[in-house]
Amino acid sequence: MSPFPLYEVLYTSELDPSVKVSTIADIVRRARLWNAAHEVTGLLVFDGGRFCHHLEGPAEVVHALALRISADARHTGFRRLHAATRIGPRRLEGHPLSYGLAYDEAEIDAVTALSGVAATERLMQALPRLELEP
Ligand SMILES: Cc1cc2nc3c(=O)[nH]c(=O)nc-3n(C[C@H](O)[C@H](O)[C@H](O)COP(=O)(O)O)c2cc1C
Repeated sequence: MSPFPLYEVLYTSELDPSVKVSTIADIVRRARLWNAAHEVTGLLVFDGGRFCHHLEGPAEVVHALALRISADARHTGFRRLHAATRIGPRRLEGHPLSYGLAYDEAEIDAVTALSGVAATERLMQALPRLELEP
């Protein structure tokens, strides 16, 4: 059990066209260090154009982080699909930021067709089909 109520956020966005895809590696490297130090876990999926990111952790931390991310100029079209307290274990225990490539655009389409916890659960179902980076 976590010592605090878990809070989770799911959003989609698009890589800004002026930003190199290689920048994502830098974002992920820094994010993993920060998330690990602040008890945040999550999954970031990229399909070549769009991001879909699930993050979970202490409510205040996740809320503030999601605000910072939404203001990040390296992506646009930030659209929150889900934000809620979660009763139960973390979805991504032990993963400060898993990063996965989705080869099929239908994967993020299927998530954005939903909202709320159903969208989050649909993203988790995609895990076995993602090319996950260690
Ligand atoms: C798609 C995307 C996902 C991000 N995910 C995280 C994350 O999980 N953790 C994190 O600390 N920063 C993440 N960032 C970076 C933040 O937007 C921000 O640069 C970072 O929190 C540092 O904040 P600061 O620049 O205000 O100091 C992400 C950025 C983008 C574009």
